[in-house]
Amino acid sequence: MGKVTVRKILKMKGSRRIVMITAYDYPTARIVDEAGVDMILVGDSLAMVVLGHESTLQARLEDMVRHTEAVARARPRAMVVGDMPFGSYEPSSTRAVESAIALARAGAEAVKLEGGSEYVDRVRAIVNAGIPVVGHIGLTPQRYLALGGYRMQGRSEAEARELVRSAVELEAAGAFALVIEYTSPDVARSITDKLSIPTICIGSGPHCDGQVLVLHDVIGLARESPPFAKRYRDAWSLILEAVKEYASDVRSGRFPGQS
Ligand code: KIV
Repeated sequence: MGKVTVRKILKMKGSRRIVMITAYDYPTARIVDEAGVDMILVGDSLAMVVLGHESTLQARLEDMVRHTEAVARARPRAMVVGDMPFGSYEPSSTRAVESAIALARAGAEAVKLEGGSEYVDRVRAIVNAGIPVVGHIGLTPQRYLALGGYRMQGRSEAEARELVRSAVELEAAGAFALVIEYTSPDVARSITDKLSIPTICIGSGPHCDGQVLVLHDVIGLARESPPFAKRYRDAWSLILEAVKEYASDVRSGRFPGQS
């Protein structure tokens, strides 16, 4: 199968579940691509899982550009999606387009931005500039202060209605896919049924067109993982054991050995 494009992602709705995962650098981009994922998200989760910050509010456009460049250098078959960080699109549509252009120049084949109805004009402006957009609703971590923490969204009827409205408006504004984070599974299902673009969920249940996870949660390198993440391997222990063995070999003289 050749390069994953917007057209291919759209066609997957209803026929094949979409697999998205984050990666932030050249080697991990190569690994996740070799594993056959469809989309690589250079997520602003970078701020937490790679740079050690407390929240994603600390991710800057320069960080996202640099890491998008590193991922793009892997020339993956998967589509590279660059995340628009906090502060890079809120002030105006012009700012949003400039930020999206910076990510596209870095190698992003699409950008993702958090927010619903309140940001449809930003989505429309970026799409009009020729850059494909993935929306992101539900728990939007860049707004955790206003949301009162990292809690499930769409539990009340009013919240659920607002999420469905945002999803419909984002599709109308030109988004070609929608990330739905940590909502009740029923809300994710009704949005998935209503839209003709694919939904890609994280912590919102199984009734979506695809799933996304943060790589460091999947491989056990995150300090702390959300309750909905699944850890498939323990890379922390693997690295720890390898480095301990190396240190011990140096101290005992087993490495580099006699030549
Ligand atoms: O930044 C990120 O990793 C994300 C995913 C959680 C969807 O936005």
